[in-house]
Amino acid sequence: MPSEGLVATASAKVHMSFLTIIESKREGASLSPAQIQRTIQDYTAGKIPDYQMAALLMAIFFQGLTPEETAALTFAMRDSGEKLSFPQERGGRPVVDKHSTGGIGDKVSLVLAPLLAALGFRVPMISGRGLGITGGTLDKLDAIPGYQTLLPAKRIVRQVQTVGCVICGQTESMVPADRKIYALRDATATVPSIPLITASILSKKLAEGLDALFLDVKFGRAAFMQTRKQARELARTMVELGSRCGVATQAVLSDMNVPLGKAAGNWLEVKESAECLDNRGPEDLRYLVIESAAHLLAQTGKAAGLAAGRRLAEASLSSGAAQAKWLEMLKAQGADLSAYAQLLSRDTIAPVTQELMAGTAGFVTDCDARILGEVVRDLGGGRIVKEDGIRYDVGIDQIAKPGERVSRKSVLARVHSADRGSALKALARLREAFKIAARPPKTLPLIREII
Ligand code: URA
Repeated sequence: MPSEGLVATASAKVHMSFLTIIESKREGASLSPAQIQRTIQDYTAGKIPDYQMAALLMAIFFQGLTPEETAALTFAMRDSGEKLSFPQERGGRPVVDKHSTGGIGDKVSLVLAPLLAALGFRVPMISGRGLGITGGTLDKLDAIPGYQTLLPAKRIVRQVQTVGCVICGQTESMVPADRKIYALRDATATVPSIPLITASILSKKLAEGLDALFLDVKFGRAAFMQTRKQARELARTMVELGSRCGVATQAVLSDMNVPLGKAAGNWLEVKESAECLDNRGPEDLRYLVIESAAHLLAQTGKAAGLAAGRRLAEASLSSGAAQAKWLEMLKAQGADLSAYAQLLSRDTIAPVTQELMAGTAGFVTDCDARILGEVVRDLGGGRIVKEDGIRYDVGIDQIAKPGERVSRKSVLARVHSADRGSALKALARLREAFKIAARPPKTLPLIREII
């Protein structure tokens, strides 16, 4: 065992050589792939202190990274832990996934994973939890009695091979570098950096061993990227890098100024997803699900183009094949299907519901997704800090969307809450989210661009 003096000398050496890396980036120079790889290895192993890594992250925030540096960072992070590996199948099922940058009422993953499995894909969908106003797929699935979101890598691969899809959390040993760096970025105001976001998202997706990836990059007042220009830049960077890494990658830019669907909140979103899988539910949710599936079908050559992909996806949803896969996935991950069916049959699982009524007749011209997200979070459905517990029963449904005609006293939204006090507070805030006018608004398509 080395003496204390020797350890101190070795760590002082790491600190000194890392200082030159920070200085280089601070002055706008490019780092070599070897320097980047070493940085990630040393930081993950605890050899670089947080204060030095924070300084490098801030230098990257201001100076940016070249495409080569971003690629090296992505690979180094991907290789920092365990990766999934799927057997080659002759003429077989491509391994695919989608990533959404998140928004209010975005429950596409819940419907899309089983739909893709029913269409002959393998889908290792590794998802995350919500923070702030954005909901997380795992939090929604936790609302299903018995459903297990923490699975070891071997089990993930086995379920993907047998069922065709899994939706679960990242294992402890997958991409540990991202977990550590993301926490530090969160604490040092260095999250909104396109190369750092790209490396963070793609390192996790590349560790899934994908053939193709579809990205839904959202823009608008409730999106991570507020402007379409920022969303486009992020989408282009991710598509370029994903494609360079041998993963057929495509992105769309979709509007997140109004919520997706008519429900927001963990259990209420599971319920709306189940309706979509049952060929009911809101049009915009179905549209985004079908478009996502159609892109992956076209990207992998399983359909001759988007129109053919749409037809295949529509048929799989309409026939009940996707719904059957959903139930198969829930069962494989431990869900109690009779308790789940019992919950689905109830109008609400929250102690209190309260309706927000329109004060005047006309057309809904706005429904501010940011306000709705804040209301769901404040009802207890979301977290302010990572350690917060959340409620699954609270949220908002029956949301009136822009373009809908309402009469005086029509329901604009219904709040599900833990008690009457929080319901009344939510109603007061929600009133600000809706606008009604005599004429219908100009409607724009949900997907605004394909990258
Ligand atoms: N989501 C991620 O996974 N990483 C980021 O850096 C930002 C959003």
